[in-house]
Amino acid sequence: MRAAYVMHQDAGDPLGGLGLGELDAPAPPAGWVRVHVQAASLNHHDLWSLRGVGLPAERLPMVLGTDAAGRTDDGRDVVVHAVVATAGWEGDETLDPRRTLLSELHPGTLADEVWVPERNVVPRDPALDVVDAACLPTAYLTAYRLLFDAAGLRPGQTVLVQGAGGGVATAAILLGRGGGLRVWVTSRDPGRAARAVELGAHEAFEAGARLPHQVDAVVETVGEATWSHSLKALRPGGVIAVAGATSGAMPPADLNRVFFRSLRVVGSTMGTRAQLVALQDLLVATGVRPVLDGVRPFDETRAAFERLASGEAFGKIVLTLT
Ligand SMILES: NC(=O)c1ccc[n+]([C@@H]2O[C@H](COP(=O)([O-])OP(=O)(O)OC[C@H]3O[C@@H](n4cnc5c(N)ncnc54)[C@H](OP(=O)(O)O)[C@@H]3O)[C@@H](O)[C@H]2O)c1
Repeated sequence: MRAAYVMHQDAGDPLGGLGLGELDAPAPPAGWVRVHVQAASLNHHDLWSLRGVGLPAERLPMVLGTDAAGRTDDGRDVVVHAVVATAGWEGDETLDPRRTLLSELHPGTLADEVWVPERNVVPRDPALDVVDAACLPTAYLTAYRLLFDAAGLRPGQTVLVQGAGGGVATAAILLGRGGGLRVWVTSRDPGRAARAVELGAHEAFEAGARLPHQVDAVVETVGEATWSHSLKALRPGGVIAVAGATSGAMPPADLNRVFFRSLRVVGSTMGTRAQLVALQDLLVATGVRPVLDGVRPFDETRAAFERLASGEAFGKIVLTLT
């Protein structure tokens, strides 16, 4: 099968270890189902795997990818849920201490086919095409859970989304608007800030700028570069919902501010199968659709990764495999 995979890992040159070509199809565990991938999208997670973060070298070569939409052998159109819990696990899959994401232990979605447990396929709502559906399982699901579960936001509240251009950030802008929130964003880049407003953000600010008033919650995926600003942006009792640390994971904690102002810091990873279903329902009900940086055929996977690594993408980069 055609696949994009991690050949070797290099923290400084992640794309140097990107393999593209034929790999043997995986031998699936008993009871898993095959999904013929029609569209798959890229995530920062794929770059971390190529850098050697979260993927031990002894598991190489490893097929990349956590997002896909496709068709099962028995003809069902599905979206793949990328959080693989251990057999028999009940409840929130993300809380299973032994859960993995596709491409960490089991081959990922950037291939002609991917095998997953039956519980990891969700029927694709016919209102969503395969490209839109392929954007959901990582960035959009993460944003959904950050806003409506980790931060517990309600219509009318204000959220600050740090780093406007990213996959999770653009998802948070769209879903936040769809869910009736006031959405503010920051960006290092005026062009991306302007595009965030076109997408629906109520206001965009320069990274680190003083805000008109403090916010109920912050969606934080940038990490060190924005952490201090995120803490200062919160009203007393506000919450930082954090799902990433692209610029570094060890900012000063500023504990005085955290306890004097009764702030909450809530970590969040991906989302549950039930939340993926709820996310689809939100998109169908609101008409919100993922923002796409580009859709490319699988032959252009390397260029797609170069675009992701450049940091210049705005929205999701999708590969089509049919
Ligand atoms: N926990 C989870 O389940 C989960 C799920 C998805 C993603 N993540 C993590 O969340 C992070 C973002 O993922 P993504 O797929 O959205 O990545 P992405 O599309 O590559 O977005 C990166 C964003 O970070 C901002 N950024 C990057 N470097 C920065 C710096 N030095 N200073 C300020 N801003 C910077 C950029 O914003 P501007 O250029 O607009 O300022 C850009 O919007 C990654 O670390 C990823 O691993 C976690």
